Amino acid sequence: MQIEHFINQIDLTLDPPAEEPLRQYYFIAKARTLVAQMEKEAGRKMTFCVNTFGCQMNARDSEKLCGILNAIGYQESESEDADFVIYNTCTVRENANNKVYGRLGYLHGYKKKNPHMMIALCGCMMQEEKVVAKIKQSYRFVDLIFGTHNIFKFAELLVQSIENNKMVVDVWENTDQIVEQLPNERKFRFKSGVNIMFGCNNFCSYCIVPYVRGRERSREPREIIREIENFVADGVVEVMLLGQNVNSYGKNLDQPITFAQLLEQIEQIEGLERIRFMTSHPKDLSDELIAVMAKSKKICRHLHLPLQSGSSRLLKIMNRHYDKEQYLTLVEKIRAAMPDIALTTDIIVGFPGETEEDFEETMDVVRKVRYDSAFTFIYSKRTGTPAAKMEDQVPEDVVKVRFDRLLKEVQEIAAEKSAVLTGQIQDVLVESVNHQDDSLLTGRLGNNSVVHFPGSRELIGQIIPVRLDECKGFYYIGSRA
Ligand code: SAH
Ligand code: SF4
Ligand code: F3S
Repeated sequence: MQIEHFINQIDLTLDPPAEEPLRQYYFIAKARTLVAQMEKEAGRKMTFCVNTFGCQMNARDSEKLCGILNAIGYQESESEDADFVIYNTCTVRENANNKVYGRLGYLHGYKKKNPHMMIALCGCMMQEEKVVAKIKQSYRFVDLIFGTHNIFKFAELLVQSIENNKMVVDVWENTDQIVEQLPNERKFRFKSGVNIMFGCNNFCSYCIVPYVRGRERSREPREIIREIENFVADGVVEVMLLGQNVNSYGKNLDQPITFAQLLEQIEQIEGLERIRFMTSHPKDLSDELIAVMAKSKKICRHLHLPLQSGSSRLLKIMNRHYDKEQYLTLVEKIRAAMPDIALTTDIIVGFPGETEEDFEETMDVVRKVRYDSAFTFIYSKRTGTPAAKMEDQVPEDVVKVRFDRLLKEVQEIAAEKSAVLTGQIQDVLVESVNHQDDSLLTGRLGNNSVVHFPGSRELIGQIIPVRLDECKGFYYIGSRA
């Protein structure tokens, strides 16, 4: 509301202000007049469609893009046959990139038919020089390219793009800037992601994220608290705190605070009922955090603790700063403090030089920890990372066989584990009407398991007790308790 008030008062005959976020408010006001003009010409409302690839960070960034587009007067459309299509891209694995190139062809078809159509590409993939070069050369119909560091400038870039007839490219190598108080949308009324930090300093040797997201920067605790308080006033009951390694939150602030201390402050927010976070790097997971989680009434009993590999030899080459024994000891400590906690993980198969023995170590950890679920990935070579230059990349057929063995093990354990709550009554956040059967609702337990149960849509957004009648492998069928 406050932002809207500001934007309405802006005098566009003046030059744009230099400081943020006022500068962006100015460009939102300016874009409104340009879009209104386009509406007049077309005789209809202008529509937009944001297509998001990759992780929760990108999902949250897309909500910021949507917030700005709504403020400008665009209407959201489900279809990519819209007046403004944005791809918020991911580059963590090669196949993420290929998907984008594949779809750009389709978009070109739409663009040929719609003279108002604009196409923007942003996100992690755009931080790679060779990607931008390829688009400039082979996809000349793209109107706007920007990266992860200047997403706050979206309104300004959009104005530039509407006013210019040629491709606008603005990609920054890095930034220490965090611009607060920009418009943003939430996909869900009752839950939201909240960035607590940006970037990553860990440089795991296989990973491209530090190169495309820049150095680690934490938001000020008061900004985080203010944002969550506003969300809660607007109906949010659950937040997911987002960072590539939340355990290093706050270290570089002028007044340093720990992630555990931040959690304690967030816990005090009245009306907020559930707190989740990701991702926790095992190397930095402190006893203080375990203690805060164990005594908390709001932090969900779920921890995503990426393993990557069970081989101490490979973990060292991956630059993960823990070994197999340390990881297992950490899991024991967490389970001793919270016996009911759900543990999930990420595992990479086929890192350069992975031997059968290394892979067996990973299988051994999987059997010992018994994860509630695990994301398994085939190693993907990312240009510019140290691992891409390593010799003895593992042959594809070997990786495939290992991957299938791992997946089978992970799924068998997950199926056994998910059955343990059968018969219990648990608090469930009702998230949606079931996609297949609209007499059912779909909700989530604190441990992140999913339950489908009969009920009406008014319950969406509420936390209610549900009896978990039957386990169907990866989800429950339940009834209201
Ligand atoms: N910051 C988070 C994860 C970010 S990327 C963390 O440290 O856990 C999400 C997952 O993608 C990683 O956990 C890893 O398992 C996987 N991943 C990253 N780079 C990869 C690569 N080059 N090939 C295959 N999987 C990769
Ligand atoms: Fe990548 Fe490692 Fe940073 Fe996670 S912690 S984003 S895996 S470099
Ligand atoms: Fe992908 Fe960027 Fe996230 S590379 S996984 S969208 S940080």
